[in-house]
Amino acid sequence: MTPARLTGIHACVFDAYGTLFDVNSAAAQAKDALGEKWQPLADTWRAKQLQYTWLRGLMGRHADFWQVTEDALEFAMASHKIDDRALRERLMGLYLRLQAYPEVKDALTRLKAKGMKLAILSNGAPKMLASAAENSGIADLLDAVLSVEEVKVFKPHPSVYRLPGERFKLSPGEMCFLSSNAWDAHAAKACGFRVLWCNRFGQPPERIPEAPDGEIETLSVLPDLVGA
Ligand code: LAC
Repeated sequence: MTPARLTGIHACVFDAYGTLFDVNSAAAQAKDALGEKWQPLADTWRAKQLQYTWLRGLMGRHADFWQVTEDALEFAMASHKIDDRALRERLMGLYLRLQAYPEVKDALTRLKAKGMKLAILSNGAPKMLASAAENSGIADLLDAVLSVEEVKVFKPHPSVYRLPGERFKLSPGEMCFLSSNAWDAHAAKACGFRVLWCNRFGQPPERIPEAPDGEIETLSVLPDLVGA
């Protein structure tokens, strides 16, 4: 069901990985070397990457997302019995040049034309986000690229979700937060944002507090759903 239109919105804030950028596209581009293992490897890589962010946050042992992504890839390759240092380096290089999902550029262009401020709010290290935004041709559409490196703790720590309000001088209720990661959507809702869960992968809802305001399948419908 299409969610109700959200009004009083002056900025859209996007999660990066899985929401704007296709996290599977790195392993997919190395299918020649990975064969049928590319998807299981991509799944383990992503799951472990997120686990490590949560674990490091709780342990108080922050390292940037580049390090965590490489650690997770090492684990994933070991668990899928792939021992190939050159391939690991190739996959990390591909992670810097992830592809955007097909509708992203058009949706951001339409939002920008409506006068919406646009930002990324991501676990990604600044160099990773700059590279992915540049590579996918959306860098010029963004008013801000906000990294957790400003606060040195990963999502879902509340201090991360304060960054867009500080940058745009807006209250969280004047911004719409978009994430395909349901847990990230719930965490933004807990911090006062209006939130749409971009449920790209047809997942069931999470059983945690602070449900999003609505659910969409891709970002293509977003420009018609938010307004001042
Ligand atoms: C990010 C992860 C959660 O971009 O996808 O912050």
